[in-house]
Amino acid sequence: MLTLAGLNTHYGASHILQGVDLDLPRGRIAGLLGRNGVGKTTTVKTIMGLVPPSGGSVLLDGRAITSWPAHKIARAGVAYVPEGRLIFPDLSVVENIKVAERSPAKAWPLPRLFELFPSLRERQTNRGSELSGGEQQMLAVARALISDPKVLLLDEPSQGLAPLVVRELARVIRHLREEGVTILLIEQNMKLAEAVADELHIMVKGRIVYSAERDRFRAEEAQVRARYLTV
Ligand SMILES: Nc1ncnc2c1ncn2[C@@H]1O[C@H](COP(=O)(O)OP(=O)(O)OP(=O)(O)O)[C@@H](O)[C@H]1O
Ligand SMILES: [Mg+2]
Repeated sequence: MLTLAGLNTHYGASHILQGVDLDLPRGRIAGLLGRNGVGKTTTVKTIMGLVPPSGGSVLLDGRAITSWPAHKIARAGVAYVPEGRLIFPDLSVVENIKVAERSPAKAWPLPRLFELFPSLRERQTNRGSELSGGEQQMLAVARALISDPKVLLLDEPSQGLAPLVVRELARVIRHLREEGVTILLIEQNMKLAEAVADELHIMVKGRIVYSAERDRFRAEEAQVRARYLTV
């Protein structure tokens, strides 16, 4: 579904992504883990066309979308929930969702979104600034779904959320997989990543150095954590 092949990205003279390879089959959830600053956000920004790669390719359903403008990548079926959520504080819940709508949503019309996010239904006329962190995160995911994505890129969605809300987020992510959405989940919260991801990948210095199915990852977790994740 989503393939990264030898992806390289520079910020000026800094060589950030140094040959990222990843093949994410349809309907699966891949967790991408790694210490601060290794290039996780840069990976999703590069996929999304927000940062131009200096080499390699991004394939969606076998078609190269490398270096396409972001709006065209979005239209091809990739949605991105950025770190920090970027909710419009002065718009209502419904307006925040509607700004992302290109044409009347087919797969995820509002009533269906509210089924998946009951807390948003109750808050639909509230402004973004009036929502809790958890509600803002749900809103950011809801907004991404309105475009009927095939692939959803989530950048640290659990950041700053209380454990109960993280559990709710896990429920939503699992539900989306059942609905056939393919998900790349960047996380610092290893418990969440492990709970929902089918496969886990670890990035070190702009490269994926370890990949495993969830069961193997669980079995190797202690060594993997000590080797690649602890500071
Ligand atoms: N716009 C930018 N210009 C220059 N350097 C940048 C820019 N954005 C990120 N970087 C640098 O690129 C490297 C990778 O950053 P990136 O945000 O991809 O890391 P990350 O793995 O997402 O980290 P974190 O876990 O802190 O979110 C870092 O060293 C960062 O300082
Ligand atoms: Mg990041």
